[in-house]
Amino acid sequence: MGSLRDHQNQHDNKSTEQPHVVVIMVPFPAQGHLNQLMQLSCLITSYDIPVHYIGFAIHNRQAKVRVNGLSPHDVAKIHFHDLPTPSFASPPPNPNSSNKYPTQLQPAWEATLGLRQPVATYLRDMSARAKRVVIIHDPMMAVVVQDIVSIRNAESYVFNCISAFFRSSFNLEKKGIPFPIKLPKELPSMEGCIPDDVQSFVALQMEQLNYRAGDIYNTCRLIEAPYLDLLAREDETGNRKNWAIGPILPTKLSLANKSDDGKFKCLEWFDKQEAKSVIYVSFGTTISLSDEQIEELALGLEQSKKRFLWVLRDADKGNVFDGELRRAKLPEGFEERVKEVGIVVRDWAPQPEILAHPSTGGFMSHCGWNSCTESITNGVPIAAWPMHSDQPRNTMLVTDILKIGLVVREWTQREELVKASTIENVVNRLMAPEEGTEMRKRAEELGATLRQATEEGGVSRVELDSFVAHITRDNALLARTSSLSSSSVRCDTSSQTSVV
Ligand SMILES: *[C@@H]1O[C@H](CO)[C@@H](O)[C@H](O)[C@H]1NC(C)=O
Ligand SMILES: *[C@@H]1O[C@H](CO)[C@@H](O)[C@H](O)[C@H]1NC(C)=O
Repeated sequence: MGSLRDHQNQHDNKSTEQPHVVVIMVPFPAQGHLNQLMQLSCLITSYDIPVHYIGFAIHNRQAKVRVNGLSPHDVAKIHFHDLPTPSFASPPPNPNSSNKYPTQLQPAWEATLGLRQPVATYLRDMSARAKRVVIIHDPMMAVVVQDIVSIRNAESYVFNCISAFFRSSFNLEKKGIPFPIKLPKELPSMEGCIPDDVQSFVALQMEQLNYRAGDIYNTCRLIEAPYLDLLAREDETGNRKNWAIGPILPTKLSLANKSDDGKFKCLEWFDKQEAKSVIYVSFGTTISLSDEQIEELALGLEQSKKRFLWVLRDADKGNVFDGELRRAKLPEGFEERVKEVGIVVRDWAPQPEILAHPSTGGFMSHCGWNSCTESITNGVPIAAWPMHSDQPRNTMLVTDILKIGLVVREWTQREELVKASTIENVVNRLMAPEEGTEMRKRAEELGATLRQATEEGGVSRVELDSFVAHITRDNALLARTSSLSSSSVRCDTSSQTSVV
């Protein structure tokens, strides 16, 4: 495989010695997944462990150009391995479909099944160059990495980028077991969440998960302990380890150069707004709303008379670099009428910086897990409008369990247009000082608690340290046989300050 060239971003590994451990990230090509493995890569490189990130060239490029809130210094340490991108269909999303699942991404996902052989070749190559090869992969890439069973010094860990609440309830449901934990109300149905052919793709992946050595969760025991415990109990081997290391997003944002980058322009507008006065509206990278729904949303925001920043982008295609996005129409004269109170952003927005901004007081969100963790960690209450997959259950976690959000539209009403009056009402309740107070206070407290969890000695940080200690175990032993000197896990705090 001549194309498996290692093009490290900036500098070659100074050391010519064989490393003890190399970590290889195998992400699933959907933005929310690419992003989380980038975040994890930065965390792991901060322990001075080499990290390799492997995928189709266009998806590696996507992961790099959309880096959100990470330090460029940390990103530069990741070794990217671009695999040749095969041709696959990359149709535009259909905004008129009443089911919001991003079926346009399926051809790109199916194409990953062809990666088994090149990835196996790559892993064998790496296994000859390191004492231990640690693969951290998306559960949706289990088929691709299955050949590690034949590599003596390789071990794999699944990185779960969804909530433990969703994962545990979904797994039990598949086995026909009722959810054993008492919930404030009935679990939202999985109906309409994931199309059948995607379920088959998922099932294919699940068959290949048995050889994993453990699970990493992008969540925190302080909010999801009961569900993490349920997941731990699923392990019939009794040998698998679990680490809840989240939130893995940087809680101290890198002050990446705001002045030389157009993407931070909207923050200048935020700087002029009053504290907690703005509702941020964004539905992530997989949702395309119909013209009709966009009109209702626009009118609802306008009628609420609250300040808003609305990211209005069409959903990603399988190849995000292929052609123009649909530029959705806004109601006649809308932007002119609202120019004193709101702005509409059509580009990639710096969501972590927006949610961390003191002027942000609420988030209208589809409740993808990235958005949920970013909002919760920044103490921002959520107006939840779930669209597909894990989002209805994430909504339940955020609104009914953690009580830091309101529902815009119930999952049972997913086929219906959400009217402007409904949106106006929810925005007013979320942003009104009187009604918002209790929920806002809870959100802020929870945010502070979660940020603390990732700091030195915090519960999630302890689990991350424990994961790193586990994958670098026996270093002293290895060092004696290999003449390498460093014998313990080094925690380089200087490179870590911008991440954790
Ligand atoms: C969606 O519906 C609108 C009319 O409501 C129509 O103008 C548009 O072409 C449709 N788009 C697609 C992709 O079918
Ligand atoms: C930020 O950008 C400005 C203008 O491009 C440049 O002069 C400055 O050195 C940059 N600062 C950092 C910290 O990179």
